[in-house]
Amino acid sequence: MLQRSRLTPLTLILVAGAAFGALAWRPAPAAVVLEGEESPIHEHMENMNAAMRFFGKTGASAENRDKALEWIAKFQTSVVACKTMTPATAEKIEEAKRAEFVAGYRTMMVDVLATSCKLEKALMAGKYDEANKIAREELKALKDAGHEKYEGDDH
Ligand code: HEM
Repeated sequence: MLQRSRLTPLTLILVAGAAFGALAWRPAPAAVVLEGEESPIHEHMENMNAAMRFFGKTGASAENRDKALEWIAKFQTSVVACKTMTPATAEKIEEAKRAEFVAGYRTMMVDVLATSCKLEKALMAGKYDEANKIAREELKALKDAGHEKYEGDDH
């Protein structure tokens, strides 16, 4: 009896510890696993999309000029990163035509960069309507054309 009463607290600690461990353990959340699977192009495209939403929904104005300049700078950083990457769809192109396909992708990303510089110049000149129009029409058209040709069917 004496021995049992000495063991009991220890047993309780072990059982409680094991129970706590079992309750505290969680598998890695699915979102974390999925994030790891997204391509680097995808991550940058999401940044570009956030900037496009700013110009499309809020719209640049004299009041948010600094914010608008920040958004276009973030957009450009992601465009520069994307243009040297290879879209996954290139794998499905026959080898003889792959370089041309990737060059076409890169050229279009250069067009996106050039158009974003035009937008930035409009912002600098205080031409906010013009800046918003470039985002809503010219960048939108490039986005649609780029996705049509390079994004693939899994989206
Ligand atoms: C100009 C503004 C653009 C924006 C805001 C934009 C935004 C996005 C977004 C949000 C995605 C993820 C779509 C999804 O998974 O549901 C995406 C994917 C993609 N975009 Fe764009 N895009 C733009 C332009 C372009 C252009 C010009 C090209 C090609 C020259 C392009 C090529 C791609 C590719 C290849 C993917 C798939 C990335 C992957 O998951 O591996 N995008 N884009």
